Amino acid sequence: MLRFAGLLLLLCATCHLVSSLTDGLLPNGNFEFGPKPSQMNGTNVVDRNGIPNWEISGFIEYIRSGHKQGDMLLVVPEGAFAVRLGNEASIKQKVKVINGMFYSLTFSAARTCAQEEQLNISVSPNSEPKDWGMLPMQTMYSSDGWDSYSWGFLAESKEIEIMIHNPGVEEDPACGPLIDSVALKALNPPKRTRVNLLKNGNFEEGPYLFPNTSWGVLIPPNIEDDHSPLPGWMIESLKAVKYIDSEHFAVPKDKRAVELVAGKESAIAQVVKTVPGKVYDLTFAVGDASNSCEGSMVVEAFAGTVTLHVPYESKGKGGFKSAKLRFKAVSNRTRVRFLSTFYTMKSDNSGSLCGPVIDDVKLVSVRNLRHA
Ligand SMILES: *[C@@H]1O[C@H](CO)[C@@H](O)[C@H](O)[C@H]1NC(C)=O
Ligand SMILES: *[C@@H]1O[C@H](CO)[C@@H](O)[C@H](O)[C@H]1NC(C)=O
Ligand SMILES: *[C@@H]1O[C@H](CO)[C@@H](O)[C@H](O)[C@H]1NC(C)=O
Ligand SMILES: *[C@@H]1O[C@H](CO)[C@@H](O)[C@H](O)[C@H]1NC(C)=O
Repeated sequence: MLRFAGLLLLLCATCHLVSSLTDGLLPNGNFEFGPKPSQMNGTNVVDRNGIPNWEISGFIEYIRSGHKQGDMLLVVPEGAFAVRLGNEASIKQKVKVINGMFYSLTFSAARTCAQEEQLNISVSPNSEPKDWGMLPMQTMYSSDGWDSYSWGFLAESKEIEIMIHNPGVEEDPACGPLIDSVALKALNPPKRTRVNLLKNGNFEEGPYLFPNTSWGVLIPPNIEDDHSPLPGWMIESLKAVKYIDSEHFAVPKDKRAVELVAGKESAIAQVVKTVPGKVYDLTFAVGDASNSCEGSMVVEAFAGTVTLHVPYESKGKGGFKSAKLRFKAVSNRTRVRFLSTFYTMKSDNSGSLCGPVIDDVKLVSVRNLRHA
């Protein structure tokens, strides 16, 4: 049943069970239902309706797990099939959603050629001037070539069309990313609480994580509030951060956290209303995800004009420490930011980038603290 999340959303718009039933794969979101032999030429899908529930355009290949390309064996993360998007190829699907609800899209992708690749994710209808996002597939963060990516959007209709497009212009048409497992998750708008001026400070609200994949989900770079799959937070700068869950990783608090996988090239930030002259405490946990990410790490936390460096010695086996940054607000709005000073690589010879984990971020005014 969960496979047909779109249908459940429609049913539950009237049955008030929305929050519990809005997670999951799109219909045929893992491409397990494929074309008939008559709709294919080799691995190439030649009928635009050849993949059930999807409409395709351009050079699309339907790939079975274990397929050989050159000397590379293609492995599919979920089930036995995936699709490959050639130059200018796209796949799209119409999905029933709740109008006015914020969603996060998650999908898994793998590069197959050495070139830098990117995917254009878009949703229509959408009244925003920029209703699409270009997600770079530039660096592999997982060990086997697959990573999961997320993107957020506001549903502006009861039925939307989700499109994934490869704008590539590679010489070899067989280059282009493989796609598997496309899922949606409805996100609850995070609220500030009396005990925390930050929204979603413990990162519990975030993109869909595939239960069967153990590499988390990347939250892409240059994400502003309106397209953030991590409500309340922005991703500044050039590289992604990774969203992780306690089912597959060590997480300092509750079920979700953020791993800073790209050193100084990626920062996570939130702007908070503050009162100039007032003193605030920013508290947070720094740890490791128990994913063979070992070594000396440093998380840099910024609030207003103050910076705190939090060193953390990781044995790659989980654990965390708490840190506190006290600062006096100098303006009406204070930007709270976190980044990792160093790049770290996993000790499993995979060459995958990894880094310190942050979680349980709280901002309180010191006067409130005393009264609490
Ligand atoms: C199948 O693909 C091959 C190679 O691209 C092409 O030569 C052939 O004409 C195609 N066959 C059909 C039936 O389209
Ligand atoms: C995901 O994992 C569960 C439990 O191991 C398994 O039963 C299920 O078949 C898996 N699903 C897919 C699509 O691989
Ligand atoms: C991404 O796709 C959208 C929707 O098709 C399109 O309007 C936009 O121009 C594309 N962006 C780029 C950079 O190609
Ligand atoms: C803070 O906001 C007030 C009223 O909105 C404005 O007058 C003042 O200039 C702002 N101060 C700063 C430092 O931004």
